[in-house]
Amino acid sequence: MEVLKSKKVLQDFIERQKEMGKKIGFAPTMGALHKGHLSLYEKAREENDLVISSIFVNPTQFNNAEDLEKYPRDINRDILILENSHLVDAVYIPEVVDIYPEKTVSQHYDFDGLENEMEGKSRPGHFDGVGTVVEELFHQVKPDNAYFGEKDFQQLAIIKKMVEKKKLLVNIKGVPIYRAENGLALSSRNQRLHEDRREASKVIYETLKKVNEWFRVITIPEIKERVQDIFDEQKGMQLEYFLIADEETLKETDFFYKDKNFRAFIVVVVDGVRLIDNMHLD
Ligand code: PAF
Repeated sequence: MEVLKSKKVLQDFIERQKEMGKKIGFAPTMGALHKGHLSLYEKAREENDLVISSIFVNPTQFNNAEDLEKYPRDINRDILILENSHLVDAVYIPEVVDIYPEKTVSQHYDFDGLENEMEGKSRPGHFDGVGTVVEELFHQVKPDNAYFGEKDFQQLAIIKKMVEKKKLLVNIKGVPIYRAENGLALSSRNQRLHEDRREASKVIYETLKKVNEWFRVITIPEIKERVQDIFDEQKGMQLEYFLIADEETLKETDFFYKDKNFRAFIVVVVDGVRLIDNMHLD
């Protein structure tokens, strides 16, 4: 596996691959790799000649300096995971200056309102930071296909919107949420939880499964009440939000409509760690 540590080295590498006509699959990450990331690479491996990942903790998508500082970083461990996976041909590890040559600030994006829902309300400016880094990485890596996890469903929708609005030549592929055996969605943040708290957090997935059973049986306000009751009983967990939204507009709904796809979205804070999950409703 090639380890590409600057924009210049990456560009030479990409040029050679393009000359050979290689189809490039790309999965950007912020490191702290886990099996969820490997599922992105597996999909990319199936559909491309060459798989590239990036590791870059993007400062502009953190709206809180403490969160940025606490973000787990272990580049040697990540490189080892990538090498042992045999799924990735090259990893790009840029310096801040490779992504932000002048000021480390975001561009401003209009994602047709998707950015104002859910995470956009709790994390102002977050999606401008994500859009900025992903667009720049797309320009540098020039992928044919790019892979993002459905755990961050709103991020996936926003990246699809950016590609559509800016007419970027890349296909965006969503990859289903990778769950631990107990159902907890894998996330780099899970490392910050004690094992017993990780086990207790399976209640998030169990609740989403119940929501799917209740969907179209009782009303959405009744579902919301039941979800609140479940989390009121959990020690050390706060339900930050639970809602059901149209999968396309991400707008919250209190009513079911025919011919629309709906998804439940949840954020729970467990011992100060913010856990996010979602589920398509059948
Ligand atoms: O999902 C992530 O890890 C990040 O938001 C991404 C897409 C790598 C951009 O920094």
